[in-house]
Amino acid sequence: MRKRLIVSAAAGALALLLTVPASAAPYTPGTPGIGDAYYPNAGNGGYDVSHYDIRLKYQPATDELEGTATILATATQDLSRFDLDFVLGVKEVLVNGRTATFAATGESELEITPARPLAKGSPVTVVVRYAGKPGEVERGGYSAWLRTADGGVAANEPEGSAWWYPSNDHPTDKATFDVSVLVPDGTQAISNGILTGQSSRAGWTRYNWRQTKPQATYLATLAIGKFDIRTDTTPGGLPVVTAYSKDLGDNDGAARASVERTGELVDWLSGYFGEYPFASVGGYVPEVPTGYALETQTQIFYSPAQFSRGANTSVVVHELAHQWYGDSVSVQRWSDIWLNEGFARYAQWLWSEHENEGTAQELADYVYASYPAGHAFWTVKPGDPGADHQFAGAVYDRGAVAIQALRNTVGDEAFFRILKGWPAERKYGNATIQQFQAFAERVSGKPLGALFETWLFTAAKPAADSAGVPATSAAPAGATGLAPSAESGRPEPKSWKRIQETNAVHEHEQGRAQGHAHGRAR
Ligand code: TRP
Ligand code: ZN
Repeated sequence: MRKRLIVSAAAGALALLLTVPASAAPYTPGTPGIGDAYYPNAGNGGYDVSHYDIRLKYQPATDELEGTATILATATQDLSRFDLDFVLGVKEVLVNGRTATFAATGESELEITPARPLAKGSPVTVVVRYAGKPGEVERGGYSAWLRTADGGVAANEPEGSAWWYPSNDHPTDKATFDVSVLVPDGTQAISNGILTGQSSRAGWTRYNWRQTKPQATYLATLAIGKFDIRTDTTPGGLPVVTAYSKDLGDNDGAARASVERTGELVDWLSGYFGEYPFASVGGYVPEVPTGYALETQTQIFYSPAQFSRGANTSVVVHELAHQWYGDSVSVQRWSDIWLNEGFARYAQWLWSEHENEGTAQELADYVYASYPAGHAFWTVKPGDPGADHQFAGAVYDRGAVAIQALRNTVGDEAFFRILKGWPAERKYGNATIQQFQAFAERVSGKPLGALFETWLFTAAKPAADSAGVPATSAAPAGATGLAPSAESGRPEPKSWKRIQETNAVHEHEQGRAQGHAHGRAR
């Protein structure tokens, strides 16, 4: 997102006339990917989006989605052509008000050739009219659109946007969003931010949602179905929006007993991470068969399965932690995923400590002692896990041990300054693990190269005497098996199983969640 200097069409046309002399260097196509090694076709080159206006109509009975997306962008090079990431059928594309030619290319690229080339620095308005049945559009045998009995849900990482709106689908191009959805009366539509309006006419109701803070494309969500939507404000004045499918059945009470604590948990997390970065907060629980949750910005997606064994504040803490670590401060490249999952997991450890269910140190010791050297767990490098292991358990658990090792190395005082300082340092931006390390070194005054190398970038179990490992943590010789167990010789912290569920439920679905579009690198 970049501030636009000129908005009027007349000024735009003038800028174009002035900047396209006959002798200009040739205008070239924007690249079909933004340059992320894990997902070569994710995002696109040549422009920067500032705002998405997405206007939709959805019919739950047939899964028909019709849309008009208006995208405000700025060209970052002299462009003859550019791509959007999208999988639904396109009817018409306008660029700066003129009909453009377009073609679906590759797995999920919409290639757009404007009637006139676009000069570097000039504002670009793209209108895309489309329609399709998102549940039926598959890439690599997979649709990111979750159909439910009464509608559908778009909530996926790293890529799900292409099933409901065209975008520059990479976390480095953040934008504000307006999402307006027309659904049959009696059905509700949910997206990010605040519900700014709702109106009914002739059997259809329109819901208008607005996200006023920069948002990465994968953090935009859409849910349609029969929901009980509740609005409230925290004591501090932050609007809270929560929504529950009317079909939650036995999970309804536990879901509400967890998600209704959102405001309280945001306040608790603010004590560690600093001021909450967004203008609203909340979450929704649709009746989906999946087991995972996703940190969709301000409006968190939860699966009912997370609440099938009673209230689960741990998962709420995990997803809320992402609002600072992941959503406000986002990865620069998908390989930086530890900056999201390591810290969201560590927040669960702090919550466990608060609830007297095991300290962060005990949880770190338990992870360390549970997997013997040579176990596959240690072959995943949390700092660069590869696209196939982006959400492996080690990214979360070894990733959180790495954070405990950092804490043990720099001491509590510096550690908590780092934890709170980083989201302020990089608010609404992107960052790499290397930049986090430099920040932690600056705050603590300690060189941390060896610590990061050992804990994040080495495909082996760190030695018991390596930096940050508590002396008591040596693994007992006999520890074996896939899952940590009593065999590790350490008592299992009370919170352990519940915390594992936050992503373990998701892990067996991971192939499905990731084995699709955008040409995943192997
Ligand atoms: N970021 C999610 C979490 O840990 C996990 C996740 C990864 C996910 N890929 C997903 C969730 C796809 C839903 C869909 O909270
Ligand atoms: Zn997470």
